[in-house]
Amino acid sequence: MHPIRTLTVVASLSAAPLCAASPVIINPDLTGPVGIGVVPPGWSLWTGSPDTCDAGGPFNNTPTPWVLSPNGGTFVRAGGTSTVGGEGFAQVVTGFTPGALYTLTFFQTNLGFEHPTNGSWNGTDGYWDLMLDGSHAGSSAVLTKPTLNTDPIAWSIGLINFVAPAASFEMALWSRSADPSGLAAYMGIDGFDVRLVPAPSGLAAFAFAGIALSRRRR
Ligand SMILES: *[C@@H]1O[C@H](CO)[C@@H](O)[C@H](O)[C@H]1NC(C)=O
Ligand SMILES: *[C@@H]1O[C@H](CO)[C@@H](O)[C@H](O)[C@H]1NC(C)=O
Repeated sequence: MHPIRTLTVVASLSAAPLCAASPVIINPDLTGPVGIGVVPPGWSLWTGSPDTCDAGGPFNNTPTPWVLSPNGGTFVRAGGTSTVGGEGFAQVVTGFTPGALYTLTFFQTNLGFEHPTNGSWNGTDGYWDLMLDGSHAGSSAVLTKPTLNTDPIAWSIGLINFVAPAASFEMALWSRSADPSGLAAYMGIDGFDVRLVPAPSGLAAFAFAGIALSRRRR
């Protein structure tokens, strides 16, 4: 019977954080009016001039409409290099437990960039950096641009774990290039979700206690 009892304990442990304050991100779906150098309501420009896009752009110079993320609606597009500059957007988020571990997930894509006049298929491998109160807190997986300008863009799940520096802090997403030569990557992002990670030390202690108990009973 004890394996079932252990499961119950684990379930009630992971349910415990629900009693804590819940993190709040305003407009996590990045829904807003399409435009150059504008970010959706609830967000602000952090550096450079990210854009709010739908399938047509702005800056989709390819013959293929951009596939929308599974989150739907508009998304944010930003270009970034590996060195300086780059585009980012931010929001002051609230409701976090200082020192607690959270997982931020989102949809991300590498859009590439078709030069508007000479047709070159530009853009490099890229990713998103998470900046909390101006400090680097993590990076998403590196994505490559579509092989051809006629290929549809592909969305995948970006995941960054971070420790909340305070109950409320500035959360910025910054487009970065993995190319050391200084050429830019053009990334898309959409659909944020943030969750408290159940305390691993507590779970491990309970798992260990469960094993010890089961050994003793045998
Ligand atoms: C098109 O313009 C870009 C940006 O100036 C440049 O890097 C690229 O080499 C140009 N392509 C051609 C085919 O001239
Ligand atoms: C654009 O692509 C062309 C052709 O591949 C390349 O020669 C050029 O360096 C690229 N320019 C930029 C700014 O990425």
